[in-house]
Amino acid sequence: MKILLENIKELVQVEDSPVLFKAGSEMAKVSTIKNAFLIIRDEVIEEFGEMHQLKDVYVDDDIIIEIDCKNRLVYPSFCDSHTHLVYPDSREKEFVDKIKGLSYEEIAKRGGGILNSAKLLHETSEDELYESAMERVREIVKMGTGAVEIKSGYGLNTEDELKMLRVIRKIKNTSPICVRSNFLGAHSIPLEYRNDVSKYVDIVINEMIPQVAAEELTEYIDVFCDKGFFSVEDTDRILLAGMKHGLRPKIHANELGHTGGVEVGVKYNALSVDHLEFIGESEIAALKDTETMPTVLPGAAFFLNMKLSPVRKMIDAGLPIALASDFNPGSAPSGNMSLISAFGCIKYNMLPEEVINATTINTAYAMGVSDSLGSIARGKIANLFITTDIPGIEYLPYSFGSNLIETVILNGEIQTF
Ligand code: NIG
Ligand code: FE
Repeated sequence: MKILLENIKELVQVEDSPVLFKAGSEMAKVSTIKNAFLIIRDEVIEEFGEMHQLKDVYVDDDIIIEIDCKNRLVYPSFCDSHTHLVYPDSREKEFVDKIKGLSYEEIAKRGGGILNSAKLLHETSEDELYESAMERVREIVKMGTGAVEIKSGYGLNTEDELKMLRVIRKIKNTSPICVRSNFLGAHSIPLEYRNDVSKYVDIVINEMIPQVAAEELTEYIDVFCDKGFFSVEDTDRILLAGMKHGLRPKIHANELGHTGGVEVGVKYNALSVDHLEFIGESEIAALKDTETMPTVLPGAAFFLNMKLSPVRKMIDAGLPIALASDFNPGSAPSGNMSLISAFGCIKYNMLPEEVINATTINTAYAMGVSDSLGSIARGKIANLFITTDIPGIEYLPYSFGSNLIETVILNGEIQTF
């Protein structure tokens, strides 16, 4: 099966020699081709170039579907490297508590927040969880996301964590989107362990990790390493145990304080450290020249009215930045990556080009798929979207809140909604 996209106004984020991620001043560079064509064969990007070059590669009768992309831009799909989109129900009551003045930490301390979701998850069947999560997956696919990382972490006991990871595996096996899963048994401390956190950490290490690994349910391990949640010592123990079972760290760090989360992530060669509201010179120095992708979650910072991560400072220091949605019921009930792109420009002072790199190739790296996704490159999986009639790449983050995505192609197949 072959698809030809022709008369593309601008083909965005093309790579002749693919890189795994972009850092520092490279983040402001995005290669594009104006008046372009793109050929997809089966699930793969086969060829692209300027329209006048099409006759050199076009073989008559070879093309089955032709799409005229006049006035339209074509982008690689967004990769969303940090979500919690498997959850039992929304938490808008806490949203109102927050409006009335309670902080995220205060709600958590009362047994609300993540523990509230954990209680509900316990009462929800695997099938129900799968159905509600698939609705969210369909929603983000429609909004241009072509790869998503999904965490467990609303189970908080062995059986329910396994239940979540099995749901994630089912999503992976039944949906066209690329899925990576991340085991987050240490997402919150259950009330009965509040006075003896190390006992819960023991359960994560001795019960959960071995079973998760034995069922091959995930490739990553996460810890909410932050003030009021898990300490650096807890995180150290959990990451080490996960690594012994072949799980690579990808952790929550420095959302609520300068907690040492970044340093412990770097120490264990985490694929990413995520949130990063509390970042100073020492965290930046720790991240420099490592394989760890600093990942910022603008939706959570916006929703919780948090201080903003010093993204400009990090890019100027030569670091890469990834932007992900954090889609979850408590701190970021949206997986809209166009909106995340707009926040990148509006709130973090990023250029549109930096935002494109931060939401495609760098998030692809942060979920371990940048060799096959995250840019328009020959041989990469054909996950991409076609915009509506828009003037140029600046328009997407500029027109925040609008849906400018008209057509979605995943694995070389046009998606219908
Ligand atoms: O990334 N920070 C920790 N975990 C989530 C919140 C999950 C929730 O509140 O349900 C986050 O923001
Ligand atoms: Fe998160």
